[in-house]
Amino acid sequence: MDRIAIVGGQRLEGEIPISGAKNSAIKLMAASLLTDQPLRLTNMPRLADTRFLGRLLRRLGAEVQEIDDGPDGPETILHAPEIVSAIAPYDLVRQMRASFNVLGPLVARTGHAKVSLPGGCTIGARPVDLHLKALEALGASIDLHDGYVFAQAPRGLRGARIEFPFVSVGATEHTLLAAVLAEGETVIVNAACEPEIGDLIDCLTRMGAKIEGKDTSTLSIKGVSRLNGTTHAVIPDRIETGTYALAVAMAGGEVRLTRTRSDFIEALLVKMEAAGVEITRANDGLTVKRNGARLKSVDVETEAYPGFATDLQAQFMALMTMADGVSVIRETIFENRFMHAPELARLGADITVRGGEAEVRGTPQLHGAQVMATDLRASVSLVVAALAARGETVVNRVYHLDRGFERLEEKLGACGADIRRLSHDTGEE
Ligand code: UD1
Repeated sequence: MDRIAIVGGQRLEGEIPISGAKNSAIKLMAASLLTDQPLRLTNMPRLADTRFLGRLLRRLGAEVQEIDDGPDGPETILHAPEIVSAIAPYDLVRQMRASFNVLGPLVARTGHAKVSLPGGCTIGARPVDLHLKALEALGASIDLHDGYVFAQAPRGLRGARIEFPFVSVGATEHTLLAAVLAEGETVIVNAACEPEIGDLIDCLTRMGAKIEGKDTSTLSIKGVSRLNGTTHAVIPDRIETGTYALAVAMAGGEVRLTRTRSDFIEALLVKMEAAGVEITRANDGLTVKRNGARLKSVDVETEAYPGFATDLQAQFMALMTMADGVSVIRETIFENRFMHAPELARLGADITVRGGEAEVRGTPQLHGAQVMATDLRASVSLVVAALAARGETVVNRVYHLDRGFERLEEKLGACGADIRRLSHDTGEE
């Protein structure tokens, strides 16, 4: 298993181009199952998660062609002229939870599907009950056995009113992916408003879907009988953007984050400014600057978009470990999402976790140590912390990082970070 070694203490200077959003790309890839025509996705990130899903889509009958030097950057062309199998097996779905989102498109297109219940990050229970209730409301019959969901809708899906008891990104996207081909109108009440949902709506609309209410909590979808192919550019990754913004704040220095949107992470930027980080917002991104002064502690609470993203909570906690004062960090989206706290403590952080709340007492200096990545965002928080720790930190189990961060060592290294990958065989780069 690969590891990443970081020697802290280097200021970061330069520019980091942000990749396309992982969480958008994987839902857009699933949308390719809804049409027999090619879907061309540009600004695609190249990540373990997109590879996993590509493998699954091939199994279902799609051709998946990756072009790295397309005219608009890395692109993926997905083409499923017919569905050759409507079975998504455990070995492919368990590697990436969002693979479960092929269930809706498969039922919508073929009238039946058998999809393994998902695995994914170990952050709490993460059930899929809302996804299944929504598909049932759309007229699919659902059976669960042997770890699989068996869904049937031989006469097709029918529009329905679906009111979610709480906001779920995945369930909102999954319902959209099924309802676009259902007969009649579907209304989703209490829909999530994350930018990735807006991106999915834009792409589906280009494919011929009729969807109203983008960026609001009520979506109405008028089903169509078929969708067409299209070309669509994936939005920038707001979590990657926020992570590098926090990395610069932690290490000190001045870095321009390009090919991205600062408005996607406004809730984070406001907190960073309150802590003493200088942010300059621009048309194609932002500049993050911190001189030598110690940052101030700030409290945060995670919320659905446009609130503070749960996917940036671990990285923000890393920043707070060296701030002056006490920061209270409340996690409201996922239970059990503080697995990074004991790992940060190995670097010398002073953190007490009580239920959904962590109290971080800032210390003047962290010290390098061996640490373990436990999930995608937690692992990158260890990298953020290591950038300011004295001495060497080795992050083990970086396959978590590879799921969601494209060329992380290269991007940080280009700005002066002392970071290198140790390959599993030799312990060398
Ligand atoms: C997505 C993102 C993830 C992000 C999260 C919240 C992807 C691939 N992942 O995850 O990075 O952290 O949004 O912004 O896009 N829940 C249920 N039943 C359900 C579905 C969800 O109880 O059927 C619960 C979850 O356990 C969680 C909460 O709802 O506590 C929110 O989850 P959800 O918004 O669905 O997150 P994901 O789509 O899994």
